[in-house]
Order: sequence, then C-alpha cells, then structure tokens
Amino acid sequence: MASRSPSPQFSPLSIGNDFTPLPIYKAASTTSIDFSGLLKPPLKLHEDLKNGCGGQLWPAGMVLARQMLRYHRNSLKDSRILELGAGGGLVGLAIAMGCSVDHPIYITDQENMLELMGKNVALNTLESRVKGLVLNWGEPLPAEVVNEKPDVILAADCVYFQPAFPLLLSTLGDLLDLCKNAVIYFCFKKRRRADMQFMKSARKKFVVEEIESEERETFSREGLFLYTFKRKP
Ligand SMILES: C[S@@+](CC[C@H](N)C(=O)[O-])C[C@H]1O[C@@H](n2cnc3c(N)ncnc32)[C@H](O)[C@@H]1O
Repeated sequence: MASRSPSPQFSPLSIGNDFTPLPIYKAASTTSIDFSGLLKPPLKLHEDLKNGCGGQLWPAGMVLARQMLRYHRNSLKDSRILELGAGGGLVGLAIAMGCSVDHPIYITDQENMLELMGKNVALNTLESRVKGLVLNWGEPLPAEVVNEKPDVILAADCVYFQPAFPLLLSTLGDLLDLCKNAVIYFCFKKRRRADMQFMKSARKKFVVEEIESEERETFSREGLFLYTFKRKP
C-alpha cells in the first residue's frame, strides 16, 4: 500500500532557516548523553543520518527529555507512553532510563528509522522496556497502539515540514480521541514563519498550554517552546 505520508526521508539541510540555525550535518557516531547531569548512567545514543533526518539528535528532543527527567521522574509509573517522530529514540529512551515507568514505552517513527531505534534500544539494554514501532502520521493508528491506549504522548521537533502538518495534527487528534484524558507533551522549535501556522491549527483543535520550566527563559531564547495539548471538552 502506498504511504500517504509525504514527509521527506532525508532533509535536515533542505529546511528553511528564517529564525534559527539548523543542526549541522554530523558523521555517524555513538555518544553518551547525561542531560546536564540528570541521567546517571548516561544514555548511549548512536546518530546516523543515512536513513533520515531523525537519525541525529534535535534540539527540541533534548529540551523535552530534560523536562521529563527534571519534573516527571516519579509521576509516570502507571502511564502508557508513546513517542511520535522519535528518530533515534532520544526522548523515550531517556525516560525509560531515568523515570519510574511500569508499562512498555513505544517509540514510533516511519519505517526507515526502525533500524536506528532498535540499535539504540539494544545499546542501552532496554529491549524489555522499549518497543520500536512504525507509526506514519495521517494513517490509521496501528492495532498495538489502539489496544495500548497511550495516555502520555511525546513529540519533539516534529514541526519542520509543512505538507506533514495536517498529518501530524490528524494523528494527535486520533490519539486524544483514543484516550480522552491523554496529555501530549509537545516541544517545538520555531524555524520558519509557516511553523506558526501549525500552532494556530493546534490551538483551534486542542487545549494548548505552555509548560512551566526553570529552563524556559533559556530555551525560548533559542526559539524552543514546550506545550501540553489536551482534548477539548
Ligand atoms: C526532526 S526529527 C526529530 C527526531 C527526534 N524527535 C528528536 O527530537 O531528536 C523528526 C522526526 O519525525 C519523523 N517523521 C516525519 N514525518 C513523519 C510522518 N509522516 N510519520 C511519522 N514520522 C514522521 C521523521 O522521520 C523524524 O524522525
């Protein structure tokens, strides 16, 4: 079946750059990330752009992971967590290592990112706690997700390609319909004027609130914003 997701397979250098610099193209490598001392032992993350732009660490992923490690270490025990557009799995893996969570964590992306996700899951020996899954925005939710009914959704740096905005909004809406009290933690980096259109549409569709964080002043200077999205009553 042809995919309805038109997002680019490989594009970090082709994104417009009106507001903030883009990540620099990096050679494949494995690094340790301790999120400014919040994660001990640190996360091992392999980055490789050969299969897509999610193959490297993006700034909103760092901010969202730090936020979850700082404020949600002990509040996610019973949560059913799913990450959208996870790339190499940075945020979901950091939570699996640093937060107390009883359910498996789903890190999802397009098919081309599965190999890297699997590699990073194995590098951190998280096979029993983290599952990589294909979830294409705009397509029906996979049966496993429908059964699991996630109530904490994570999305970092998923606003970067305008034709995918309606697909992402549709999937976020499907997830909030699936579990009425789900919360989406959404970290967004404003790069182009068009990105604000995404937030305008999100505000029409969901209850959007900016999240308090002691780091907010610092990351907002970089054009980064942290929100929760919830279902409109
Ligand atoms: C900029 S990367 C962010 C990766 C990671 N969340 C981070 O912050 O480091 C965006 C991710 O969204 C994924 N993506 C783009 N379009 C998608 C679609 N239509 N369906 C599912 N995932 C998509 C890409 O494959 C990529 O991994």
